[in-house]
Amino acid sequence: MGKKLSLLVLPGDGIGPEIMRQARRVVDWLVRHRGLNFNVHEELVGGAAYDAYGKPLSDEALDLAKSVDAVLLGAVGGAKWDGVDYDKRPEAGLLTLRKELELFANLRPAICFEPLVAASSLKPELVSGLDIMIVRELTGGVYFGEPRGIETLPNGERRGVNTQVYTTSEIHRIAHVAFDLAGKRNGRVTSSEKANVMESGLLWREEVTKVAADYPKVTLDHMLADSCAMQLVRAPKQFDVIVTDNLFGDLLSDVAAMLTGSLGMLPSAALGVKGSGALYEPVHGSAPDIAGKDMANPIATILSLAMALRYTYDSAAEAQLIEDAVQNVLKGGLRTADIMQPDKAMVSTSVMGDSILRAMDKLHAEDKEHTV
Ligand code: IPM
Ligand code: MG
Repeated sequence: MGKKLSLLVLPGDGIGPEIMRQARRVVDWLVRHRGLNFNVHEELVGGAAYDAYGKPLSDEALDLAKSVDAVLLGAVGGAKWDGVDYDKRPEAGLLTLRKELELFANLRPAICFEPLVAASSLKPELVSGLDIMIVRELTGGVYFGEPRGIETLPNGERRGVNTQVYTTSEIHRIAHVAFDLAGKRNGRVTSSEKANVMESGLLWREEVTKVAADYPKVTLDHMLADSCAMQLVRAPKQFDVIVTDNLFGDLLSDVAAMLTGSLGMLPSAALGVKGSGALYEPVHGSAPDIAGKDMANPIATILSLAMALRYTYDSAAEAQLIEDAVQNVLKGGLRTADIMQPDKAMVSTSVMGDSILRAMDKLHAEDKEHTV
């Protein structure tokens, strides 16, 4: 057995537990067939934790998250907790994890799997071969800025306040992540903000431009966030890496995700300063309407595990094996409901999991043949 790899699994709410079950089967498979020495912990997060402990992340779960190599999270949230205060809502559990682990860099790839080209709402020629990386700043901006709150004015009117705020060091560190990634990809960074109306956007633009000077091989252009949203649905293949703030990144990554056919396909990584841990999660939410029906798509969670293998566990070969297995299952015509297409076979969450494991068996056997 190799070096111990610690993993904290947080299934969360809605479809979280059922998609995570499939990801855990993949972890077990890796232990059995590839000799990876995983030590897996599991805890509650989000509404599930609120129901059990009165808060969306227990101190124990937070301590564990800080101590493990990586966290794999399913999804949080649901209408059931709509009346709960913001600091105790399911989403606050996730935001606390991001903030406390200092996971400032959110990598959200939008890759169009060839068998799913026709599932996109855009024309096939616009999305075929699509491979964009959105780099979203994750621990600053309007999500965390102070002051914030809802107050009642003397005249009885209510006033809601959130503050968009960025410092140069916050902008520099996320820009470096984007330029480093672009250097290993197609060498292009598009930085997106609203410098035309917001001072924080102007600062973002100026500071990203300064960082670009360290990367002579990477080209930088700037695009206002509204225009970027428009260009993403007009001609998405013009982009390589998009770097943007927390709020715009939230919006643009949903748009980019949908280009690929379904939110149910896309993984993400939230990375911090070296050694501070990492959190991997599907981009989609908890989908309470289909929870417990064995019809959710487990692929984004399984691909998030693949990202963890690549970025945290130094196991690129295993990451590739999982990604190839997913590709093969899709080529074979199996689809969960969210990516269903004419003439394909609709399968449940668990059958999709079975099929991915079978495809991994096959690829693993071929691997062994080649190495003998
Ligand atoms: C996301 C989600 C979260 C966010 C929610 C669940 C807090 O939309 O990860 O994109 O807004 O960041
Ligand atoms: Mg979002």
